[in-house]
Amino acid sequence: MSPQREEARREHIQLHMEGALRARDRVGVQDFVLLDAHTSEAAFLDNLRKRFHHNLIYTYIGTLLVSVNPYQELGIYTVSQMELYQGVNFFELPPHVYAIADNAYRMMCSELSNHFILISGESGAGKTEASKKILQYFAVTCPMTESLQVARDRLLLSNPVLEAFGNAKTLRNDNSSRFGKYMDIQFDFKGVPVGGHIISYLIEKSRVVHQNTGERNFHIFYQLLQGGGHELLSRLGLEPDPQLYRYLSQGHCARESSIDDKNDWKTVSNAFSIIDFTEDDLENLFGIIASVLHLGNIRFEENPQGCAIIPHSHEIKWVAKLLGAPPSILLEALTHRKIEAQTEEVVCPLTLALALYARDAVAKAVYERAFTWLVSKINSSLVNKDFTKKTVIGLLDIYGFEVFDKNGFEQFCINYCNEKLQQLLIERTLKAEQAEYKLEGIEWEPIQYFNNKIICDLVEERHKGIISILDEECIRPGPATDLSFLEKLEEKVGRHAHFQTRKLADPKGRKRIGWMDFCLFHYAGEVTYCTRGFLEKNNDLLYRHLKEVLCRSRNPILSECFLPAELKNRRRPPTVGTQFKNSLSSLLEILTAKEPSYIRCIKPNEQKEPSKFDDFLIRHQVKYLGLMEHLRVRRAGFAYRRKYEHFLQRYKSLCPDTWPHWHGPAAEGVERLVKYIGYKPQEYKLGRTKIFIRFARTLFATEDAFEFSKHQLVARIQATYKGCQERRTYLTKRQAAIRLETNWRRVLAQKEANRRKWAVGIIRKFIKGFITRNKPLSADNEDFIGLVQKNYILNLRYHVPKNVLDKSWLRPPGILQNVSDLLRAMCMRNLVRKYCRGISAEKRALMQQKVVTSAVFRGRKDGYVQSLHQPFASSRIGDEDINPKIVQLISCEKIQYGIPVIKYDRKGFKARQRQLILTRKAAYVVELAKIKQRIAYSALRGVSTSSLSDGLLVLHVSGEDKQKGDAILQCEHIFEVVTKLVMLAKKENLVSVVQGSLQFSISPGKEGTIVFDTGPEEQIYKDKNGQLAVVSGCLGKEEAEEAALCENRV
Ligand SMILES: Nc1ncnc2c1ncn2[C@@H]1O[C@H](COP(=O)(O)OP(=O)(O)OP(=O)(O)O)[C@@H](O)[C@H]1O
Ligand SMILES: [Mg+2]
Repeated sequence: MSPQREEARREHIQLHMEGALRARDRVGVQDFVLLDAHTSEAAFLDNLRKRFHHNLIYTYIGTLLVSVNPYQELGIYTVSQMELYQGVNFFELPPHVYAIADNAYRMMCSELSNHFILISGESGAGKTEASKKILQYFAVTCPMTESLQVARDRLLLSNPVLEAFGNAKTLRNDNSSRFGKYMDIQFDFKGVPVGGHIISYLIEKSRVVHQNTGERNFHIFYQLLQGGGHELLSRLGLEPDPQLYRYLSQGHCARESSIDDKNDWKTVSNAFSIIDFTEDDLENLFGIIASVLHLGNIRFEENPQGCAIIPHSHEIKWVAKLLGAPPSILLEALTHRKIEAQTEEVVCPLTLALALYARDAVAKAVYERAFTWLVSKINSSLVNKDFTKKTVIGLLDIYGFEVFDKNGFEQFCINYCNEKLQQLLIERTLKAEQAEYKLEGIEWEPIQYFNNKIICDLVEERHKGIISILDEECIRPGPATDLSFLEKLEEKVGRHAHFQTRKLADPKGRKRIGWMDFCLFHYAGEVTYCTRGFLEKNNDLLYRHLKEVLCRSRNPILSECFLPAELKNRRRPPTVGTQFKNSLSSLLEILTAKEPSYIRCIKPNEQKEPSKFDDFLIRHQVKYLGLMEHLRVRRAGFAYRRKYEHFLQRYKSLCPDTWPHWHGPAAEGVERLVKYIGYKPQEYKLGRTKIFIRFARTLFATEDAFEFSKHQLVARIQATYKGCQERRTYLTKRQAAIRLETNWRRVLAQKEANRRKWAVGIIRKFIKGFITRNKPLSADNEDFIGLVQKNYILNLRYHVPKNVLDKSWLRPPGILQNVSDLLRAMCMRNLVRKYCRGISAEKRALMQQKVVTSAVFRGRKDGYVQSLHQPFASSRIGDEDINPKIVQLISCEKIQYGIPVIKYDRKGFKARQRQLILTRKAAYVVELAKIKQRIAYSALRGVSTSSLSDGLLVLHVSGEDKQKGDAILQCEHIFEVVTKLVMLAKKENLVSVVQGSLQFSISPGKEGTIVFDTGPEEQIYKDKNGQLAVVSGCLGKEEAEEAALCENRV
């Protein structure tokens, strides 16, 4: 390409690129690391907003997925979408929860490693929905065998059961999970989901006995009342109306339009049947649920001594029945307390307040343990009994950072949990970054980040942390109160940089903190906790008396949950704080051993409305979810990194050296490519296996150039593809044609071979026929002979003589000699006949005359030959030339012929002009009107002529008649005259042709002589001897030759 064209191309790319960039800006970047202003919260929110308004709810920060709850169905969770994301390179498609799930799954399958997906966010942000989507994704896309379908169904159906018992409607979320859930999905070596395991964390049991206005208890209570049916409810002593139960009516929203309890009951019942729950299990479980409702309805009154009494035993009876305990003992346990003093036990009555506390404590304990039992029961149904090695993907759906106006013990635990998880996330991300840099041989550039270990330590450190201080305060003899706990805190951790109380704060900060509050500076921000209730909640005390009742319960579930061993153990059970800390540390142990993926869920508004993006609320969440911090760590110098192979594969079309194939190492190809597209050295670094691009804009420029070149590529690929297709069809056609040709040629060759074979046979036969042609007719020669005969006959037609004079004839083969002769004769006869038929009567007469002439003169008289071709005339004198008198005289005899003649006198030989007229009867010598001599034919004795070419003739007459003597005449046409004369006289035999001389009769008895001779000149004269000398002219040489030729022809 010429430099000018190259420049023009680049300019074009540049122009196009900017257009595309603007287009991209409208929907933001799909990975926050590609934000140029990656440290700006405003830019972050802006990007999130842009995408949210285009219903693009997912955005990456590297491999972390940020999800904004759309509060509407977007149609992005269809099976076809699942299939789209299956096995696709993570960054190839737009961000999606399926991409996270698929990535974890692929890595698990390929590396046989364990993974977890941590889903966190505020209540109502969409954590549970995300975890369900992931579970569905695995259920649909993973390979599946029929036998393992049950395992898959159980995994899926464990959700509605757990949600019924662990979820409730809150102000924030109609289906709020009130427990933390970690679920392991186990896969066999083929990647088939074969089992699972669930761990639950810190169920919000206080909800069992108390709900704020607008909130509800756990769904299962309402579902049971709405869907359980009359029979079950009467067995449990319940009425369908939730308003009748104190534990269900405090929130004043027992019936919620968005929740269909009846329908949900059906789903849960169906799920129970699939997860292996027996009828008895369900009866006992619902017994416990019902007992909680009855417990709530137990009313206490105060007796005059200030002790609590239960005036009506109706509810007690039902509770006792359902829990399998004697009513009297239960009644006593609810109103009295056993105090162990050294060796003896003292029973003392409870005040009204304590009795209410005890009742609620039982309800909470019973529900909590029943929930734990439910989880373990589900686990036993999910367990895979095959002990081969499994890999797992864990789904952690856990409460996110919570900051309310008033934050209690629960928020303290929850935020502590989030602090720990944040630590894990930052550590893992940093560690992964550092490891990657090291692996790639790129210099590590230290990142400033907030290490929240200091806060974790503040909460959990042994003997020094807040939880330890709280525990100490709980077990301390003497009057411990929440306030004393706060003082202890001020005393022990008061100097910690992340801790503050009203007392410790400077005058400015004091206003924000109450007397009972302490403030923690979490990684996500400052949270003020009210210590009120900390001790009680941490102690979670269930009076021993009540514990005894529950341990002796005949309800099998309760007897599993409350083991008598608990009673024997005199040591205090671990506090809630410690239990939570321990379970958290074991959770972190579980997570640390696995590869992480993160999903951060964001709630766009408090009103659960679609398309409403509440900036304030979201900024708050972005902060508490630590997204900016994560982005900062993830960006750590480079906005983008990809394996050389992937980078090259995507952008190779931008450089002629790498397109369409780069055969060398991918790293070198990438180096060549980035140099060609003009990366500046500070814009990128090349690692061992990856390219690191520092600025997002560099990548965008590359991407835009790629977008532009795609069109050209598509055209080229299409052309090549079409070419290939055409070539393929051409080749098939060609092959077909060749095959046809081959077959056709074979057919032709066979035909030709047969023809030749046949020809050889024929030729051989003919040779044989030729050899044996003269032998008698046999099979060997009959064809040959036949052919020869046919050919001869066919040929003959071209050689038949054309006229009677043509004597030529096709020479016949020997065998056809006879036939040929016959044919020749026939042919000649035919010709003759034809000739004869063709001639007229006149001509015939003429020919007859000629025949006579021939008979008389042929070979005897000179000039005969020359006369042959001169036809005879019918007369040489016209009728008008004959004197009418003469005509009249001889008309009766009919004039046949006339000719002028010279008559020589017999004596003097004087020549006289006369006419010779021939009639039927006589010849007349006429002089004008006078007949000089009549020679009747009967008197004609003969006619003489000489053998020379003269025209002299002598008519010999007989003497008896009165004839004068012979007549000597000379005329032209001597042959004609003589012939006509003798024919008329019928005296053909009397013509004599003499040589030398002749005698004639002058008169009777007197004879004269005529001498004939040849000379140079014709003349007739009387010679000296008195004889008539007739000299004929000699024939010239030419005339002689002609005469010979004619002679031959004749
Ligand atoms: N991806 C989504 N598409 C459509 N609606 C969603 C989506 N995610 C969440 N929602 C809506 O938001 C509601 C709350 O979601 P979810 O129960 O998952 O929140 P959560 O984060 O689990 O809250 P909590 O901490 O209270 O359990 C859902 O009931 C659903 O109506
Ligand atoms: Mg939830």
